[in-house]
Parts: sequence; structure tokens; C-alpha cells
Amino acid sequence: ALTGAAARPLTGRRAIVTAGPTAEPIDPVRLITNRSSGKQGYAIAQALAALGADVTLVSGPTALPAPAGVARVAVETAREMLAACEAALPADIAVCVAAVADWRPESLGAQKIKKGDGGPPPISLVENPDILATLSKAKARPALVVGFAAETNDVEAHARAKLDRKGCDWIVANDVSVQGTMGGDDNAVAIVSKGGIERWERAPKAEVARRLAARIAAHFA
Ligand code: CTP
Ligand code: CA
Repeated sequence: ALTGAAARPLTGRRAIVTAGPTAEPIDPVRLITNRSSGKQGYAIAQALAALGADVTLVSGPTALPAPAGVARVAVETAREMLAACEAALPADIAVCVAAVADWRPESLGAQKIKKGDGGPPPISLVENPDILATLSKAKARPALVVGFAAETNDVEAHARAKLDRKGCDWIVANDVSVQGTMGGDDNAVAIVSKGGIERWERAPKAEVARRLAARIAAHFA
């Protein structure tokens, strides 16, 4: 086994990892959210920390404990997630794994909306900030910005389009049409960059995380 500096090649590097869903309030008791266990993002935060990185894990609501040696910042909304990421800059590495709600209810009522005879209330939505795109064009842009793309079809084409649109360096494309991926322990991914595509065998999320962390370390070596 590697020892000393070779075992912790990311020592002195700062990393931001977003994970979990965001939750967008409709009123004080109701919210809109996404399906996300947070498992893959937490595993990546842990794997980067294991290689010596100083990791800030910006997490939406999940049932997971913070990995040892990782600084977790708990947030709920996309706007809070963005603010926490910006507060964690400068960083060398950003890995955006969170399932951010694309939209939020336009105005949060201060009081609980009551069932009345008016029928169901209309909920008008506005677009949330794109955290990955914002970090990719930030003044203090991390040297390596990595996004995820969960797709059900045309995985690689969608991933490449996202890479261009968001201005990140790599997209980890995740085929969620594979049975058991959402909320499960395995992931089948491909790493898409300007340089091409690399397909990885289906593996436990912890193993995907270790491989990604090792590839990130190799990028900085
Ligand atoms: N992402 C983000 N902020 C958002 C939306 C997405 O940081 N408001 C990040 C995700 O964390 C992920 C990547 O962008 O790393 C791709 O997310 P995805 O939902 O697949 O992309 P969208 O651009 O929202 O496209 P769509 O949902 O329409 O496929
Ligand atoms: Ca989205």
C-alpha cells in the first residue's frame, strides 16, 4: 500500500462537493423536492478527504451522517446551496452531485395555504440558479469543475451538451434507466470531457467515488 504523501495526493487541495436534493418551500409546511439519497455525493466527499483534500460538503436534506473528516454545511434551497458554495471559494475542485430543484415556487406564503372552496391553489414556478454553471464561470473558478448528469436516454449526447452549456471540465454521466440506480448502491457511469469519453463498469457508489477521486488526483499530479 502507498504511504505518506503518495497516499494523500490531494493534501493542501480544497474541494467543494454538493450532494442530496434541494427542498423548495411552497409555504411553511409544504415543499417541492427531488429524488436523491445523497449517497453518491457523500461517497465522493469521503473519497476526496481520504486522499487528503480539505472537503466542504454542501448538502441538501438527506438521512446520511457527515463522513468523518469532512466539513458539512447543511442547506435546504438551491439559493442557499449556491451561497454556501460561493462562501467556500476559493477551491481547487468542485464536484456538483446535488439533484438541485430546477424551479422553486415564486413566492413563499408566510402562512399555511388552507384547503378552501377555491380548489387547488396554482403554484407558479421560477427557475433556480444553476450552481454548476455559476461555479464554472466564477471569478475564483476552481481549476477543476465536475458535474453529474442523470439521464434515461441518449446519455452521452445529453452529457456532452451539458458539458458545453455549463462550461464545466467533466461530466459524470449516469444512466438512471439501469434498474436499481436511483437510491441504490451501484452506479454505471461514463466520464465525458472535451478530450473524449471513458466508460466505467457498473460498480458500487463507493467504488465509483474512489475511482473519481483518484482520477481527480491524477489530474493535479
Ligand atoms: N445543477 C446545478 N444547479 C442547478 C441544476 C443542476 O448545480 N440548478 C448541476 C447538478 O448538480 C449536476 C448538473 O448540474 O451536476 C446537471 O444537472 P441536471 O439536472 O442533469 O441538468 P439540467 O441543466 O438541470 O438539465 P435537465 O434537468 O433539464 O436535464
Ligand atoms: Ca435539472
